[in-house]
This record gives sequence, C-alpha cells and structure tokens, in this order.
Amino acid sequence: MIDPMGRNITYLRISVTELCNLRCRYCMPADGVCKKRHDQMLTEEELIRAVEAAASLGITKLRITGGEPLIKKNIVSICRRAAAVPGIGEVCLTTNGLLLPELAVPLREAGVRRINLSLDTLDPEKYAYITRGGSLEQALAGLQAALDAGFDKIKLNAVLIGGFNDGEIPQLAELTRRFPVDMRFIEMMPMYDGGDFGPEAYLPVSRVLEQLPEALPETADGGVARLYRLPGAQGRIGLISPLSDHFCGRCNRLRLTADGRLKPCLHGPEELSIKGLSLEEMTQRLQQAIRSKPAWHGELTPSRRSQAGRNMNQIGG
Ligand code: GTP
Ligand code: 5AD
Ligand code: SF4
Repeated sequence: MIDPMGRNITYLRISVTELCNLRCRYCMPADGVCKKRHDQMLTEEELIRAVEAAASLGITKLRITGGEPLIKKNIVSICRRAAAVPGIGEVCLTTNGLLLPELAVPLREAGVRRINLSLDTLDPEKYAYITRGGSLEQALAGLQAALDAGFDKIKLNAVLIGGFNDGEIPQLAELTRRFPVDMRFIEMMPMYDGGDFGPEAYLPVSRVLEQLPEALPETADGGVARLYRLPGAQGRIGLISPLSDHFCGRCNRLRLTADGRLKPCLHGPEELSIKGLSLEEMTQRLQQAIRSKPAWHGELTPSRRSQAGRNMNQIGG
C-alpha cells in the first residue's frame, strides 16, 4: 500500500517480546523491563492474523525483532507460520545471537532467510560492559552458527559510540574480509537514557569513512544503509545515519510491538492497537497506520530525543 507521501510500504517489523537476555546500555534499563501481563501481549494466533492482514495490503517482507526474539518459546513456530503466509516473500530476524548455536538450524529450516546480529565490539570486556554482562564468546559462537546454517545473508550491527568503539572501526570492518557478512555502523539514536552517554558519544557515521580511506561506494540499494566495500572483501560496509542524514523519505516500513501496537514511525508517539481484533478489523487498522505515517520524525539530536515513548527493546529497532 502507498502512503500519503508516495512511499510503498512493503516491510513490517514485528517485535515478539520486550524481554532480553542482555541489557545494552543504549537500549534498556539495567533492571530490565517490568513484565507485562500475558493477556496484554499478542498471542501467536493474533500475530499470524496480523501478518495475513499485512500481506493482503502488500507487505512482502517481515523482520522479527525483540527485545531478543530468540528467548520467545514459540519463536520457531512463529517464523514457520509467518513464512508460510501467502504474499510473504522473506522472513528476516534481528538478534543478539546468544541463542543461535541452538536455534540457527531450526530457524533456517522454518524459512528465516536473513539474520542481522548485534556486535558492537570485539573486546570481551567492552562487550560485557556495553551489554551489562554479556559474553562475547557466546555472541561469536552465534555468528559461527549462523554462518554454518547457510542463511542467504548475515549482517552485523555495531552502534557507533564515541569513546567506546570508535577506535575499533578498522577491526570491525575487517570482519567483511574474513567472513561473507556485511558490517553496519549505526548512529546511536537518543532513546533510553541511563546517563551513560554524553553528547560526545553520538558520532556521525562519516567518522567510519575517515578511518576506512580504502572503502569504495557500492551502487546496490542497502535499505536504510549506504553501502561501501573494502578492496577484496566478501561483504560490505553499511552506514546507517538516522541523526546526520535521516532516510525517512524512502521509509518503507511499519512496526508492530509485542503488546499489539502498530507504530507508523519508530520515533513518533502514535500507536494503534490491534489486540483482540478480527482479520478485517486488523486490515483496517493497518491501513489507518499507513495513512498516518509522518513525512519524517523531526530532528533527532542528543538533546532533542526520540518521541517514541518507548525504549528500543519495546519497539525492536
Ligand atoms: P534490513 O534492511 O532488512 O537489513 O533491516 P534493517 O537494517 O532495517 O534492520 P535492523 O533490525 O538490523 O536494524 C538496523 C538499525 O537500523 C537499527 O539500529 C534500527 O533501529 C535501525 N532502523 C531500522 N529501521 C529504521 C527506521 O525506519 N528509522 C530509523 N531511524 N532507524 C531504523
Ligand atoms: N540506537 C541505534 N541502534 C540501536 N539498537 C538498539 N538501540 C539502539 C539505539 N539507541 C540496535 C541494536 C540492534 C538493532 C535492532 O537496533 O544494536 O542491532
Ligand atoms: Fe537486548 Fe538488543 Fe536491546 Fe541489546 S539492543 S538489550 S540485545 S534488545
């Protein structure tokens, strides 16, 4: 379906849980989330109904997110059923990777085509710091499991943080030479504020290119990312610039939260509930959400923060 700005909305991001086995400092509070009542969350049946409604309006691509989607007990069933909905061409998933050693093969077999994996640093102590206790070794085992399972595409996501991982840009980029993966650097979006980051932590992704003078631009469409490649590399470098150069003009997405709210924009306050609705009612609500997509979310800076009204783990990125 085409929105009022002429954008073709073909991509639905579905957060299946707000819970996570990590606590990344830019994403959520140290003490986690206050667990919502079971009956406030979408059931698997409702979620699949929402996918059917979305497919009837021209959604062809799904991305399953969280929190951490792999801690959801029925994640393989959700992916299998979503992938089987007529019109859905591609089911993708964004994960921190910790549970991929057990789940990569079942997910691949369930029809998940592409995996994006969060990896902010290659230093075990820094990894434990930024995730508040996570194990880098476990995340890398997850990456290896994803490589072995034969997904069509694997992308690594690093949130670029001044004074934290800006000294590791060449090492992270080097992963595109060692493995057939894309490495994306993402400008940190001002959402959850636990007091960990001052204005100097918010770096523009132009900083990445300054450290990779040999990177050459690629013409392929990288979605929200601008693409580059290091000479001889198997994968590409992606730059995602929500602050320094927003990509709202080519936004093709809609979001659904684990508690059944459609978000027309990641950084907007508007939410439309589909909890408890029939297929027909859900279809109408989806149309309403697409019609109310804003042209852009307004300036995002360290001091003019997101208007999302939720932390990132409650939306899914
Ligand atoms: P593909 O293009 O399918 O690979 O997905 P993606 O890059 O959109 O997905 P992913 O979940 O890996 O998100 C990467 C980063 O982009 C995260 O930091 C997201 O929060 C961010 N992102 C994704 N969509 C949007 C968007 O519409 N607006 C903004 N500002 N950021 C987004
Ligand atoms: N800014 C940018 N990216 C973020 N992510 C989580 N929080 C933020 C933020 N504040 C990223 C994660 C994950 C993806 C879904 O969103 O690193 O890779
Ligand atoms: Fe969990 Fe992802 Fe948020 Fe990290 S960024 S706390 S892995 S949901």
